[in-house]
Amino acid sequence: SDKYCVIGNPIGHSRSPDIHAAFAAQTGQDIVYERVLAPLDGFAETVRGLIERGYRGANVTVPFKLEAADIATRLEQRARLAGAVNTLRFENGEIVGDNTDGPGLVADIVRNAGVPLAGKRVLLLGAGGAARGVILPILQHGPAAIAIANRTRATADALVAQFAGQLAHPKQMAACGFDDIAEAFDVVINATSASLSAAMPPVPALAFCQGTLALDMMYGNKPSPFMEFAASHGATTRDGLGMLVEQAAEAFAIWRGVRPQTATLLEQMRTQQ
Ligand code: ATR
Repeated sequence: SDKYCVIGNPIGHSRSPDIHAAFAAQTGQDIVYERVLAPLDGFAETVRGLIERGYRGANVTVPFKLEAADIATRLEQRARLAGAVNTLRFENGEIVGDNTDGPGLVADIVRNAGVPLAGKRVLLLGAGGAARGVILPILQHGPAAIAIANRTRATADALVAQFAGQLAHPKQMAACGFDDIAEAFDVVINATSASLSAAMPPVPALAFCQGTLALDMMYGNKPSPFMEFAASHGATTRDGLGMLVEQAAEAFAIWRGVRPQTATLLEQMRTQQ
């Protein structure tokens, strides 16, 4: 069987092996998929070792996504624009870097939540790595507008400048501070790392209305403060579990050439949560 893994530090709680095992069983693909703990200063060496032992590819998680982009000998466009890599494939002596986080998020919104992004007004909270990775895939669905709100306004400005060449028209994307948010959005995505510390970004209540989809990229045993706040102001909420399953499905498709079904697995994982 062909060997794959997820590399991170820490890695013990990763749910990726279960997800890929389910995909392999469903599609009849003969693969093994393991967790690999890389030393904080030993990511590149870990990858070299995997290649020597015949691994075909790897997912990359915290804190190695930027380093994975550095060691790739070739980057897909979406990984280059994201500045980060979560999926590596080892082929013909090359290390090819891709990023399926953004496509995974968009698939979860469009297919699983049933909210088309075309023509919609999207508010993206945060301007770090997680935010940067989802901008191109969102733009590819033709939203009316994307506003990027960040605590540090200059980071949001820089991000908008970086994607200027990808816009349908110059006003499709704009940066703002949290204080500048003055209207409700169709989709609000929390791409800040605030949920990690049980905090929430200072987004005003008026950003939400009935019909808003509020999605937190994080997932856990209970709704994040952001999700609770959004729900209390009328939004429909979603955590990042769907994004996790969809980014895995996209990686599986890159490696194996078959796209697994995700709906049943996602339902199972939600009841186990
Ligand atoms: P990641 O890879 O998870 O995106 P990152 O690149 O460190 O991590 O970015 C973290 C993002 O979360 C940033 O946009 C950060 O805002 P700043 O640029 O102002 O630092 C945002 N963030 C983290 N904690 C936050 C909080 N409590 N409130 C608002 N924004 C927060």
